[in-house]
Amino acid sequence: MDYLQSAELAAREAGKYILSNLGKVKQVSFKSQQSNLVTEVDKKSEEIIIETLQKDFPDFDILAEESGASSTKNSEFMWVIDPLDGTTNFTHGLPIFSVSIGLIKGNEVIAGVVYDPTRDQLFSAEKGKGAFLNGKRISVSKTKDIKKSLLVTGFPYNVEENPDFCFERFVIMTQNSRAVRRLGSAALDFAYVAAGIFDGFWEVKLNPWDIAAGLLLVNEAGGKVTNFKGEDSDIFNPQILASNGQIHNKMIELLELAEQIHFNL
Ligand code: IPD
Ligand code: CA
Ligand code: CA
Repeated sequence: MDYLQSAELAAREAGKYILSNLGKVKQVSFKSQQSNLVTEVDKKSEEIIIETLQKDFPDFDILAEESGASSTKNSEFMWVIDPLDGTTNFTHGLPIFSVSIGLIKGNEVIAGVVYDPTRDQLFSAEKGKGAFLNGKRISVSKTKDIKKSLLVTGFPYNVEENPDFCFERFVIMTQNSRAVRRLGSAALDFAYVAAGIFDGFWEVKLNPWDIAAGLLLVNEAGGKVTNFKGEDSDIFNPQILASNGQIHNKMIELLELAEQIHFNL
């Protein structure tokens, strides 16, 4: 098995398990904030993924959301895993969630899979080989005019503190685009930019497991991923701007404008 096959298998196995538990969540716990949920399904999904990946690649390091850096084998390879991206949606029975698995070598993502079990949609990419949805090549949209764009964002769990002026940013993007959606699964937000459904996605305070697979998908689909200043981004940079490339500079301009509005400049 190669990396991608193994990641696909793990994502499908976990996705099947998650789907079979939709609407059946019995116990919800909280992480740091009241809005940051975790269920037994997140944890079990993570176990399924790690077990599957370790069968093929026992020596690779792992960074997974629920168990952290569970193996420190000092390998140059590391799987970065979000076992259930969209836990809040899942807990409420809203069928918008995914499994995200990325593989990094050094600081670079070399393979990634985002799987939506509700639609049986598997987004995959390998460095230098393009991005795919269920085996068919995908590419970002060609939209040049931000006024005609469909954008997506998400809010961090401490949203009530308005970190990084996220409310002002939401308002200004809404005023300047066709619409802004908020799906609740960052991995799917990236995947939909890669597939040309969304023209752009921005969010602050993301974690490496939210970003890894999605970042590669967008890059391999011909898009662009940076921070809000337009500088190259990696999975350890929590501030993400992913787009079709065409509206990237305009998005940066608007994101900056929101900061000025916040301070009444
Ligand atoms: C969350 C989702 C959401 C994003 C949050 C993430 P989780 O991940 O990706 O879209 O807005 O910042 O933490 O907790 O459901 O894995
Ligand atoms: Ca997540
Ligand atoms: Ca998660």
